[in-house]
Amino acid sequence: YRIAVFASGEGSNFQALAEAATAGTLGGAEIALLVCDKPAAPVVHRAERLGIPAFIFKPKDYESREAYEREIVRRLEELQVDLIVLAGYMRLLTPVIVQQYAGRLINIHPSLLPAFPGKDAIGQALAYGVKLSGVTVHFVDEGMDTGPIIAQRALEVISGANAESFANAVHEVERELYPEVVSWFARGLVTLDGRHVTVAGAHG
Ligand code: GRF
Repeated sequence: YRIAVFASGEGSNFQALAEAATAGTLGGAEIALLVCDKPAAPVVHRAERLGIPAFIFKPKDYESREAYEREIVRRLEELQVDLIVLAGYMRLLTPVIVQQYAGRLINIHPSLLPAFPGKDAIGQALAYGVKLSGVTVHFVDEGMDTGPIIAQRALEVISGANAESFANAVHEVERELYPEVVSWFARGLVTLDGRHVTVAGAHG
């Protein structure tokens, strides 16, 4: 089972997925490719250190979003990628990828969706003053963080805790949850029916 991870930044989720693959806890999945739109991003160095192949591109070198997405799809097909895993990929996808990979394209978002979609979800949640937030893994559709929900983990916002410590707690949960969800896919446990996702053997 082969996954491609799309990332634009730090890559801590990418790293967690790679470590799970090595440790044998990713359900037998391997990371076939990193796709990155930011040549200077730290995630690029992580891929180098881990020996994971990468397709790194500059969107400006292409005439349109569709043009670079067609290039990405060519590479995914070449490598026979089964699942696209977005991990801090800071671009909306067009139908070129979303339609071709419908049901095989997931994202992680640092809030309990549908609350606080879009950028800086952690900052949005803290500014709103919620007592509970968390992490969501969901299928990707053409909207912004609107696809069917696969898994969520809640986290209490401890009053008095600062933004940084809350963000660290959220990221720690992400690094646990995302490899677990990818292992469900690799083991063929996930079924999508309309907006409803079932994970075989899981409750709720
Ligand atoms: C994560 O918080 C993820 O939920 C969001 O972008 C961030 C990526 O972090 N979509 P990293 O690059 O994996 O460290």
